[in-house]
Amino acid sequence: MGRTDFNESLKPMKKTGFIFDLDGVIVDTAKYHYLAWRKLANELGFEFTQEQNELFKGVSRKRCLEILLEIGGIKATQQQFNSWLVEKNEDYLSLIEKMDESEVLPDVQKVLQFLKKHNMPLGLGSASKNARPILEKVKLMDYFDTIVDGTQVTKAKPDPEVFLLAAAQMGIAPRECTVFEDAVAGIEAANNAGMLSIGIGDKKVLSEAKFVFADFTEMGDQFLSRLIGQTP
Ligand code: BG6
Ligand code: MG
Repeated sequence: MGRTDFNESLKPMKKTGFIFDLDGVIVDTAKYHYLAWRKLANELGFEFTQEQNELFKGVSRKRCLEILLEIGGIKATQQQFNSWLVEKNEDYLSLIEKMDESEVLPDVQKVLQFLKKHNMPLGLGSASKNARPILEKVKLMDYFDTIVDGTQVTKAKPDPEVFLLAAAQMGIAPRECTVFEDAVAGIEAANNAGMLSIGIGDKKVLSEAKFVFADFTEMGDQFLSRLIGQTP
């Protein structure tokens, strides 16, 4: 699926369910994941860069550790592997402990409020097992009709499982859902689910998304109105 030129824009298209990824779309938690993974890498005796951290976006905790150990050339026993998973998550949890609504990315509330005002069902589709506590901390829990997180899925993005489950829980056909995603694997998952994919981030990176916006400040009411089948 190629990206559609924004100028060509949308004809009114009624999309009735909207599914948001969490990390990188609603909050910038990638920096905290990075710090926790870097601490572990340093303890194990190697460096872990911001560029390498890009590979971790949208990827499950377990898979991240596998990649980290590949980067460091480290072979782990099952016991070490499990204890490093726990250690990383404990460090991550202590880093996000003080998160509050000031860490919600720009204009996220504006978009959530617009969709809510028009009675659009809203879902969260995240690979993170920490999605619920984070939504609580940033006080966005009440916007969502459905939450699917890393504790409920067995297949990681780009498998569409997380988004298909969210659509099923909302009682909406996948083709009537729109997904907001910042990760390449997440855009692929949305496309694989037959949903409309909207990338939040870099156009060059998210080239498979139907539309891409640098962030929600770029997404005006006109675009949102067309997305829900109304002209502004
Ligand atoms: C995704 C992040 O949302 O969640 C990944 O983009 C992260 O970087 C994954 O690894 C799992 O998160 P958690 O909170 O379960 O370790
Ligand atoms: Mg993400």
